[in-house]
Amino acid sequence: MIITVMGATGHTGHAVATQLLEAGVAVRALGRSAERLAGLAAAGADVRTGDAGDAAYLTEAFSGADAVYTLLPYDPVIAGYRAAQRRIGAAVVAAVRAAGVPKVVFLSSVGADRPSGTGFVLTLHEQEQRLRALAGTDVLILRPGSFFENFEHALPVIEAEGANLDAVAPHVPIPMIASRDIAAAAAHALLELDFEGVEVRELLGPRDLTYTEATRIIGERIGRPGLEYVQIPGEAMAGALVQAGLAPDFAELHVELCHALSSGHVASVQGRTAATTTPTPLEAYAEALAGRALPTA
Ligand SMILES: NC(=O)c1ccc[n+]([C@@H]2O[C@H](COP(=O)([O-])OP(=O)(O)OC[C@H]3O[C@@H](n4cnc5c(N)ncnc54)[C@H](OP(=O)(O)O)[C@@H]3O)[C@@H](O)[C@H]2O)c1
Repeated sequence: MIITVMGATGHTGHAVATQLLEAGVAVRALGRSAERLAGLAAAGADVRTGDAGDAAYLTEAFSGADAVYTLLPYDPVIAGYRAAQRRIGAAVVAAVRAAGVPKVVFLSSVGADRPSGTGFVLTLHEQEQRLRALAGTDVLILRPGSFFENFEHALPVIEAEGANLDAVAPHVPIPMIASRDIAAAAAHALLELDFEGVEVRELLGPRDLTYTEATRIIGERIGRPGLEYVQIPGEAMAGALVQAGLAPDFAELHVELCHALSSGHVASVQGRTAATTTPTPLEAYAEALAGRALPTA
């Protein structure tokens, strides 16, 4: 059995590749840097470097694979987020078609059911549509909630402001999940190949959390008990992101997603069930984050 894994140095892809190797599967691990993929190469992966927007490179990497783990990687610093995502999405689908891949797992997001008003998530909606149009390929769409790992970006803000700031409403419950739980679900599906046609599976973490509650949990673990979350206006948030070096269009998409989460426009459609609930609590992630966190104020 051969499985190709895109984004193999990233949050989910690295863990997917590692779990597949541990299960004894032949893995092709994709990324842009042989150096960053060296650990997976040492663990037995066949490393293939290239750009995810290059359909010829992807076709070669997908050829002969029994299944492929796909995602739309991004660079928040480069302007033109949506155009870059569309280019990569089209290349992935062209390569799946050209290589005749029988089974594809795609990392999408909660909110990708919506055709507008969802910030970053819109390009994932579009990619779902491209994948649905494939004939002869079974597609599993994973729709996780917000990654716990996003809180890593809050650490410098907490250091500078003494509070966690963002544009999401403070008391709206939001599904949040550990990327390792997404990887576990993806690896399981890739090993079992237990999907046919087009199937959507939401992955929602162990319970919904508000930003206020999540910030308190993070604060307690990083030595800042009582840490507060403060909602700031979208315009101010976008300005702060640009100040921090992110592309202006990326900052606008972030704010649009914050508003969509706040209004419930981006929300689970499958609801919380045993199948959509995943095990790792935010507390466990926060403990790990504490190792890299700020000194106590
Ligand atoms: N964060 C969230 O809350 C959230 C929620 C739902 C869905 N998502 C979606 O999850 C996806 C990201 O997944 P992830 O976090 O597992 O990935 P990730 O950590 O962002 O990593 C993806 C990897 O892809 C590589 N990469 C970047 N640009 C590339 C390019 N042009 N060509 C080839 N490789 C490239 C990078 O590795 P190298 O630098 O080593 O090449 C990177 O490590 C996005 O589509 C995002 O929208 C995120």
